[in-house]
Amino acid sequence: METVLVLDFGAQYSQLIARRVRECRVYSELIPYDTPVDEIAARKPRGLILSGGPASVYADEALSIDPAIFELGIPILGICYGMQLMTSDLGGTVARTGKSEFGKTELRISSEGLLFDDLPQSQTCWMSHTDSVTEPPEGFEATGSTDSSPVAVMEDRERKLFGIQCHPEVVHTPHGTDILKNFLFEACDCSPTWTVVSIIEDSVAAIREQVGDEKVICGLSGGVDSSTAALLVHRAIGENLICIFVDHGLLRMNEAEQVIDAFGNHFRIPLVHVEAQERFLSKLTGVTEPERKRKIIGEEFIRTFEDQAHQLEGARFLVQGTLYSDVIESGTRDAAKIKSHHNVGGLPLDMDLELVEPLRNIFKDEVRNVAAELGLPDNMVWRQPFPGPGLAIRIIGEVTEERLRILREADFILQEEVRRAGLYRKLWQSFCVLPAIRSVGVMGDSRTYAYPIIIRAVTSEDAMTADWARLPYELLEVVSNRIINEVDGVNRVALDISSKPPSTIEWE
Ligand code: XMP
Repeated sequence: METVLVLDFGAQYSQLIARRVRECRVYSELIPYDTPVDEIAARKPRGLILSGGPASVYADEALSIDPAIFELGIPILGICYGMQLMTSDLGGTVARTGKSEFGKTELRISSEGLLFDDLPQSQTCWMSHTDSVTEPPEGFEATGSTDSSPVAVMEDRERKLFGIQCHPEVVHTPHGTDILKNFLFEACDCSPTWTVVSIIEDSVAAIREQVGDEKVICGLSGGVDSSTAALLVHRAIGENLICIFVDHGLLRMNEAEQVIDAFGNHFRIPLVHVEAQERFLSKLTGVTEPERKRKIIGEEFIRTFEDQAHQLEGARFLVQGTLYSDVIESGTRDAAKIKSHHNVGGLPLDMDLELVEPLRNIFKDEVRNVAAELGLPDNMVWRQPFPGPGLAIRIIGEVTEERLRILREADFILQEEVRRAGLYRKLWQSFCVLPAIRSVGVMGDSRTYAYPIIIRAVTSEDAMTADWARLPYELLEVVSNRIINEVDGVNRVALDISSKPPSTIEWE
């Protein structure tokens, strides 16, 4: 598979570069900046991209690379910090000019190089830098500039080394994708062959090779990730896959029925439905601390899978729907732990089962394309994410049957109205939260003392950051009226207007 590797120097949106390259139908992966050169060469990439980064090449802790990388004969594009690093490693000059550029900037192309082939000579681009290249290394030609950056683009066409100060990966550089395409198709000689069909073919082959004739189990939650993983594995090994759907009692209204219908009836994939409500809920009695809840639920999943694995003699493999964003996120070396995230498949590492992770290199939107191609029904392809610990982390305080009933009913109304308003797909997530506090209200002529429901709706690209959704007042009005009137035990509805960061999407 033709691959372009992105060396990550810690820019906030390094993964966007890989995404844009993939959108051009060339497979791309993010790797740490200090991956040894021989490891990089062994992967035989068609091209390399050096990402931006927060540091200055002059900083004591500046991230560096082995300059041997420039001798590999592989085309390289340095973006922002990546360009400055290339410049200082190859003998050019990077200076503290005192002229920072942030935001939209006018870029002028002085001589038609490869990166801007067939593109306007003057165009807007997105800048975010303090240091500037003032003298390109020997062999390079400066082909573009801005008012503050004398060398905003540089090219050594002989060695196929390119540098660009602005960020082609962000939408604020309108010709950004065209610039990347010129690099991919002109410099790296890639062809746009990485498609949904090729993803499916490649992963089916890889799954067959990994599991052979063995039995495989898959923890199926009904979300798009685990469902797609299950369909891929089923296509690869058929009847040797057995899906396990654990109902932990923390699911939304009608959720179990939908999953069973889709997999058992529609796809005819062997599915074990484990009714484990009692097992989970009894362990949660009296527990209010969020991390304790998560740990207990995680632990119970392990135990449930162990039981199932024992019953299904010979199952050696476990499928899980880990996504590329999970891999990137857990690869952050010094990231503080905010929450013990887990999904069904993410847990049973001590189960003596080998993991099968067919989506490990795929982003969420790509998973949705694969899911559609595999025939997953539209309503499952476009299901909003739902956390493994379920409603337990949306009840702030102890989880009880009564609170679960209230939250389920309120959430059902919100979903119904969000869909009716045509907003379901536009939102990353929309859900209700029930804090275990009560307030006074009046209904008919009587006093009420009941729970509030909080509406949480966010827009997001990948859940790493999120903004609160500006839901129309009319929708909020209907939802509020319906929840208060139809859900016994609620007398107030509030709206969460916090973005992530500093808040998180879920409340616990
Ligand atoms: P936060 O709350 O950290 O959530 O902003 C980011 C995204 O992750 C989902 N989430 C989870 N998904 N297991 C999962 O599979 C979990 O334990 C878990 N916790 C949060 C959350 O719904 C949001 O989409």
